[in-house]
Amino acid sequence: MNGSSRILDNVDRERRDAVEERVEELLADMTLEQKAGQLTQFSAGFLTGTDIESGNVEDAVAAGLVGSLLNVESLADAREFQELAVEESPHGIPLVLALDVIHGYRTTFPAPIGEAATWDPDLVERSSAIAATEAAANGVHWTFAPDVDVTRDPRWGRVMETSGEDPTLASAFARARVRGFQGDDLAGEETLAACAKHYVGYGASEGGRDYNTVNVSETNLREQHLPPFAAAVDEGVATVMNAFNVHERIPASGSEYLVDEVLKGDLGFGGLLVSDWNSFGEIAVHGAADGEREAAKAAITAGSHVDMVSGVYDHLPDLVREGEVDEATVDEAVRRVLELKGALGLFEDPYRYFDEERAESAVLTDGARETARESARESAVLLENDEGLLPLSPDDDVALVGPYADEPAHMLSSWTAEGRPDDVTTLRAAMADRHEGDLTHVRACDPDGTPVDGGREAALDAAADADVVLVTVGEPRRWGGEAASRAHLDLPGEQGDLVAALAEADAPVACALFSSRPLAVPDLADSVAALLEAWFPGTEAGPGVADVLYGDSDPGGRLPVSVPRTEGQVPVYYNHLNTGRPVPEEEEHHYPPTEDETVFCSRYLDVPNEPLYPFGYGRSYADVEYVDWAFGPETVADGESVTVEVTVENGSDRPATEVVQVYTRDRVGSRARPVKELAAFEKVHLGPGERRAVTAEVDAEDLAFWTADEEWAAEPGTFDLMVGRSSADIAFSGAFELVE
Ligand code: BGC
Repeated sequence: MNGSSRILDNVDRERRDAVEERVEELLADMTLEQKAGQLTQFSAGFLTGTDIESGNVEDAVAAGLVGSLLNVESLADAREFQELAVEESPHGIPLVLALDVIHGYRTTFPAPIGEAATWDPDLVERSSAIAATEAAANGVHWTFAPDVDVTRDPRWGRVMETSGEDPTLASAFARARVRGFQGDDLAGEETLAACAKHYVGYGASEGGRDYNTVNVSETNLREQHLPPFAAAVDEGVATVMNAFNVHERIPASGSEYLVDEVLKGDLGFGGLLVSDWNSFGEIAVHGAADGEREAAKAAITAGSHVDMVSGVYDHLPDLVREGEVDEATVDEAVRRVLELKGALGLFEDPYRYFDEERAESAVLTDGARETARESARESAVLLENDEGLLPLSPDDDVALVGPYADEPAHMLSSWTAEGRPDDVTTLRAAMADRHEGDLTHVRACDPDGTPVDGGREAALDAAADADVVLVTVGEPRRWGGEAASRAHLDLPGEQGDLVAALAEADAPVACALFSSRPLAVPDLADSVAALLEAWFPGTEAGPGVADVLYGDSDPGGRLPVSVPRTEGQVPVYYNHLNTGRPVPEEEEHHYPPTEDETVFCSRYLDVPNEPLYPFGYGRSYADVEYVDWAFGPETVADGESVTVEVTVENGSDRPATEVVQVYTRDRVGSRARPVKELAAFEKVHLGPGERRAVTAEVDAEDLAFWTADEEWAAEPGTFDLMVGRSSADIAFSGAFELVE
């Protein structure tokens, strides 16, 4: 990469020239301390990590020793800080202001794992654009999103920030979010600079414990973790954030291999890199640098740029003066910061995002709420529905039981930006609005499952009088997100017992599950007639979930992640390798196995290998049939595609939502290849009785992997092609050849 950054690639010629000129003028005139300042980011308000004292932020800004701030608490504060930077600091360089706008600013959309369950990147592009509009109207320039980590570990609390276990799905959402946040022009008043994070491998923290050791092979890095970063870079993401973890025992922030060779070299990233909270300082804590000075040296030498809060760049001027770091390396990093400011339009008008009137009028509009409701209903995954218990009839007498029916704060999940419980419509409120039969609400226990006095009895009494019991259970919102790992994936407290007791009553039980992660709840699944995974659906939780519960909308969600039966199966994921001893499909299996059964295969004695619910799974109220398919050509070469056409038919008299999923299997490779890989998907809404041909493309380049020659390439050979409604429910399969 040369000096011209891709941050400016989309900026028109005239503005780009002006920004580049200004940047070079500034660089020529700045002291080493001022340069280190541009690379320093302080927190101006609440902490989103370890307790770190940033000193007097106002003084540092006025002295030109800070380039960016995160977590500024109000528009008034933002204006004050910007005035200090522009009017008092030596060069008057404006600040760039950052915030974690993860799944909405004021209007809160479902947690990202729920948004991924929509399998609808266009919808997520729209929700990200709304988040950007609201945040930019409130003085935010830069969001630390999207999180594009891929994870196979639901114990890891940050699974809620991801798009799940699959690199293809995660890449599609990475692109959608970057487009949604950034739009066409970073200087637009409705856009934010995006940040793909956490680079890289963070989703593989051992044991699902946050901040833990990561040990991924090169193949795994290339095939599982890098693709969504490559997609985000290709989509023009302006910034990337370093991860906390090590790669090959070297902290990601200080890894020349990851940053310089792979991100800037192989992926061609030309934007700005920011550390994670104190991740430069933690290079020393990892024991990979001897103190802060060495940590600073490792980070800048690796090619990382901005330091979030650790303060280790205080050592940068001396490192340069003493010849340990090239000033050109520092200049290159500062150039990226200044280019970001230029691209955001801050040199032209540092106050352009501070408009008190718009700050109010741009948030929580009817349109934003409508999109939040659509997202909530499209993210809900129907896991069980015995005897068609759902949808509910508005005339039924319903006992609405459990701790999540009327808990507005929990609906917002973790990372709430400006999301407010007061803005949330809960399920109880939404149902009360439309239900015609009796609706009795009993909370029964707290969200963490702590019993409340008389709760169980009241719940059973209500159930005794009801036609249907709708029980809401889950895990508290703070049990997901950062620093929220769990060793157990069960329902906390007495919730499981509560559902079991309700299941003994006469009325059938439907359950809405609210969680940040897939929970291993086989007993719950067995005891209820209907089970809906609602995730944490956001501001419009109640109306969105009610749309599905009453059947105004077919459940739109499909699992972006496998749901384990038990923690002991983790990691359990669909795109696994075959192993040398796969479980024979033709045999019947028992747990524990009988004497005649094969045990010398890759299996457990006590549970099946398969998850409780597989990747891609989700039921519909309708009856969608996969009628027919065709694909061609049967032989493709590099640069060509196989076109798959699938005919689906809604055989019912209600609307249907179907997600047609296309998988491939590379039968033989220079390395062992997964048994299945998602290649393409199409979400369709079908009217009653509607038949539709759905088309998807599998490009030869989608077949590429990290070959034994250590290159990203597709190898000629035979590929199975499978089409179905989930990774475990394949309707049609065939094969095609990839030739040289
Ligand atoms: C998190 C990041 C976040 C940052 C700033 C860190 O602790 O890991 O995802 O963007 O804080 O809030």
